[in-house]
Amino acid sequence: MTETLGKKRLAVLGAGKMGSILLQAFLKSGLFAAENLSATVAHPERAKALSRQLNITVACDNRAAAKTADIVLLCVKPQAVKEVLQEIREEMGPGQVVISVAASVPTSYIEERLPAKVVVVRAMPNTPAMVGAGITGVCGGSCATPQHLHMACRLFETVGKTVTVDEKHMDAVTGLSASGPAFIYIVLESLAEAGVKVGLPRDLATLLAAQTTLGASRVVLETGSHPALLKDAVTTPAGCTIDGIMELEEGKLRVTLIKAVVKATQRAKELLFA
Ligand SMILES: NC(=O)c1ccc[n+]([C@@H]2O[C@H](COP(=O)([O-])OP(=O)(O)OC[C@H]3O[C@@H](n4cnc5c(N)ncnc54)[C@H](OP(=O)(O)O)[C@@H]3O)[C@@H](O)[C@H]2O)c1
Repeated sequence: MTETLGKKRLAVLGAGKMGSILLQAFLKSGLFAAENLSATVAHPERAKALSRQLNITVACDNRAAAKTADIVLLCVKPQAVKEVLQEIREEMGPGQVVISVAASVPTSYIEERLPAKVVVVRAMPNTPAMVGAGITGVCGGSCATPQHLHMACRLFETVGKTVTVDEKHMDAVTGLSASGPAFIYIVLESLAEAGVKVGLPRDLATLLAAQTTLGASRVVLETGSHPALLKDAVTTPAGCTIDGIMELEEGKLRVTLIKAVVKATQRAKELLFA
């Protein structure tokens, strides 16, 4: 079992998709005891349902939740961050840590709206977190120490890997690894569709496509080899794979994926002001 964070209390403000994934992982890993976790949402009926589901306190009162928390995990949409910070400002003080997963919202934006000395950490997880296969980029605000970053990483390690990055890279992390699962689902769906086109039953085609995507990813991660070298190793002279690669090049798959990440990164810079 994971070492706990002692008696630290954590409040998730905005327990939607990402907030709920994290809460479930904290409970499952034993990082926090249920009595030290609380959460808020916007709608009272959702608060009731989530409280019943997770067996923790869930309400709609951000101020009350923030007041008693050592760590405030801000999981509302970027556009709601300003309003929530205004609400909780009075309750916050030195010693408390705010960790925000909101895309596009710089640590300086949060620091300006909270009392001095509240520590701010920014994190960007992704949805494969729901099966413990996520990756989270983490960076610190002006008062965050390596210990604060270490503590934040421990939270996100309950849902996968973590990387500490410079804040100037956080929008790029958003465009690549937070948006990335959607891009890969499209690649995967297309491979499965291709399997159907060449005569495979859909279930089998989807399994072959998904396990192949997983396998290729694991080889990159576990060998540390450059993907281009791994691709070369699969590509026999005058074999089948090179014919497939020619089609990919003609269809501009590479440049299309590059442009997708560039666009998503640009959009990540704008969300707060949208
Ligand atoms: N989903 C992802 O892939 C992903 C990845 C990385 C980061 N993020 C970031 O995570 C954040 C949440 O995204 P999400 O996909 O989890 O969105 P979501 O499912 O819409 O969750 C947002 C939650 O915030 C609650 N909420 C709204 N206004 C509130 C308020 N004033 N006070 C308290 N709670 C409030 C909503 O309550 P109700 O349920 O009652 O409506 C909902 O539970 C965003 O900032 C996003 O950038 C998301």
